[in-house]
Amino acid sequence: MSEEQGGAQTSPSPVEDILRGELPPIPPERRIFVNRNLRMSAIEMIGFDMDYTLAAYRSPEFEQLCLDKTIDKLITKKAYTPRIGQIRFDPSIVQRGLAVDRLNGNILKMDRYNHVWRAFHGREPVPHERIVELYRSRVINFYGRQFAWLDTLFSLPEVSFFTDLVEAQKTGALRLGRQYQRIFEDVRECIDEAHRDDSIKAVVKADPGRHIVKDPALAHTLHRFRSGGKKLFILTNSLWDYTNAVMGYLLNDAMAEYPSWMQYFDIVAVGASKPGFFTGAQPFYEVEPDGPRAGELKPLSPQGAGFVRGRVYHGGNLVDFERLASCGGDRVLYIGDHIYGDILRSKKSSLWRTAMIIPELEAEIACTGRLATELGTLNVAESRRNDLEVRFNQIKIALGALDGALKHADEGEAPELRERHHKLRHALENLKKEHKEVTEQARTLETTIECGYSEHWGSLFREKNETTKFGTQVEDYACLYTSRVSNFAAYSPLYYFLSPRLLLPHEIHV
Ligand code: IMP
Ligand code: MG
Repeated sequence: MSEEQGGAQTSPSPVEDILRGELPPIPPERRIFVNRNLRMSAIEMIGFDMDYTLAAYRSPEFEQLCLDKTIDKLITKKAYTPRIGQIRFDPSIVQRGLAVDRLNGNILKMDRYNHVWRAFHGREPVPHERIVELYRSRVINFYGRQFAWLDTLFSLPEVSFFTDLVEAQKTGALRLGRQYQRIFEDVRECIDEAHRDDSIKAVVKADPGRHIVKDPALAHTLHRFRSGGKKLFILTNSLWDYTNAVMGYLLNDAMAEYPSWMQYFDIVAVGASKPGFFTGAQPFYEVEPDGPRAGELKPLSPQGAGFVRGRVYHGGNLVDFERLASCGGDRVLYIGDHIYGDILRSKKSSLWRTAMIIPELEAEIACTGRLATELGTLNVAESRRNDLEVRFNQIKIALGALDGALKHADEGEAPELRERHHKLRHALENLKKEHKEVTEQARTLETTIECGYSEHWGSLFREKNETTKFGTQVEDYACLYTSRVSNFAAYSPLYYFLSPRLLLPHEIHV
């Protein structure tokens, strides 16, 4: 964090921040965006998810590791051909928020109304007519068993892999002898096992730096929250040994005041089983943190007393958490990356305020900046197209009226009416020509813009003029969203995050 970006060293007093109510000078990619007003002064506890929130994974190394371990299992346990080992993770063919149609082997991008705009079958776009036939001609339950959603960055490798397996099967490059649904389920089962049985985690633990990116501003960010009087907790689905290895790599010895990562946090809760944590009744256990019995679970001691700083807890549920922490409701801000497990579930089942970490934002915002000219020209082209359509309709109606008038016109009136008719027809032809050109220009610009974000999938947040499914979920459930936790360091711990006042369609022209 540079001093220019308003880090702790140069930050004005919190009162000044609030009085000013302005954003400090932060580059757009590193800002915190607000869907719902949030006063940091009212927040007493800040919780963090670990994986992809505090710990950013190195891409594509980590995804490739996940795939390598999955491929091993597919070959040894499911008798897949070793030739599947040639397939590499390809970040360009996947994006968060997409849905997999397991039955047909298609990947879909939808907008907020579950309207499917794009689909790929393997590496090939699904033709428009087929999209209409499969997904738009009847009501479909996109939350049923036929579909799987890419809610988390952990899903990207399996969907990239599935896409290439579909491609290989379709082209005959590989004869897998299984239906798409079966292939998807085999991949899901093997990657799930690779996460659970330590195949992936053992490699990360052995050399965290190869797979995890250390954010040099993280320690300072947490320290700044603490100096602002906030209690911090970690609530992760990862188990103790992995959490300890990853957090130790990120924070041990990062600041002299905190030799151990545990010292940043008032509560350390692992194995949380989110989203079940927010709705279930699983009890809390205490974890033996080190020694020969490290990782063993034991009942809480003393029963019912509050969480003790320096101890490690496992499992648990929201109700017990709030009781043992003596804090809850909207005094808690939870920061996570998983739209369903961390954000949507906590928002629906608790009063916790939420902040979502979306690492993709940095590239998206940079791309929007690069495409500013094209976006501006597209707006002008679309508005011109609308004007032309209005004019086009006016002239057509006028021509109809002239036709009517000509039927009843006498010899004296007819020539003038014919002349007008002729001129209007000519104007109509010109309009048609211009409309075609502007439509073509808009289409080309749209393609350039979409490809600027991602050749396959366009923007993470937008599809044509609509918000994507992912963008809508972020809008609906995340009070705040930003690209990384350390972006908070540029804001005072008492900052008042104010959402832009959005106008409803009927308010815009009033
Ligand atoms: P969190 O984001 O810190 O709550 O932790 C996510 C945990 O879920 C990590 O330990 C991941 O390894 C694990 N994980 C991610 N995907 C899967 C899966 O498909 N099956 C089982 N565990 C997973
Ligand atoms: Mg996570």
